[in-house]
Amino acid sequence: MKKIIIAIDGYSGCGKSTTAKAVAKELGYMYLDSGAMYRAVTLHFLKNGINPEISAEVENGLSKMDIAFHVNSSEGSQQVLLNGVNVEEEIRGMEVSARVSEISKLPEVRQALVRKQRELGKHKGIVMDGRDIGTVVFPQAELKIFMKANTDIRAMRRQQELLRKGQQISMDKVKENLESRDAMDSGRVHSPLKKAADAVELDTSYLQFDEQVSRILNLAKERM
Ligand code: C5P
Repeated sequence: MKKIIIAIDGYSGCGKSTTAKAVAKELGYMYLDSGAMYRAVTLHFLKNGINPEISAEVENGLSKMDIAFHVNSSEGSQQVLLNGVNVEEEIRGMEVSARVSEISKLPEVRQALVRKQRELGKHKGIVMDGRDIGTVVFPQAELKIFMKANTDIRAMRRQQELLRKGQQISMDKVKENLESRDAMDSGRVHSPLKKAADAVELDTSYLQFDEQVSRILNLAKERM
């Protein structure tokens, strides 16, 4: 069986990461959460007071940043390291969520991260989720999925996820963040969020998680 690239794009909070992770585990593939990389850059910019509107500051900030993933294969977990420090918890908080779309629209940031993502996927056998994986990062990916779900359902799922991590945020705030990120991510000039012409659309509003995963696995097997 040949190794393929599976690109999973879509709106915020549709469950792309958990689905992608389960698909990768089932296939014995590598999983890469590209959103975590944009979140780590955002945290780095916030911590260092980098002004995203000043190009020289952005370039300088990027040159002093190293993003790596620490994979614990027995637990099936992944942690993001920013300059060697585990920032997995911090990047998931609302402070980063509120600023990430503003930082990820910068062409310098995208260029740096896309280069890294292509490098990590060059041997195939990878499931990568994000916003521009099927359109920009791997336009030749053998399988492209575009995920969407009803906004209220997405907000409810995300609120529960934050609650499990000890963060109590109102449903309105979570919903507002999802909607504003979707609008910024879809409306930006560079690599906007959009469905690739050859992507398979998956509406996860009323799908059971296992069903979501098995649909993708079936599509993947047809392409191997
Ligand atoms: O996937 P996640 O919701 O963690 O992504 C956080 C943000 O990172 C998105 O709202 C978007 O602004 C940005 N992003 C992006 N391109 C990707 C992945 C994420 O612009 N491939």
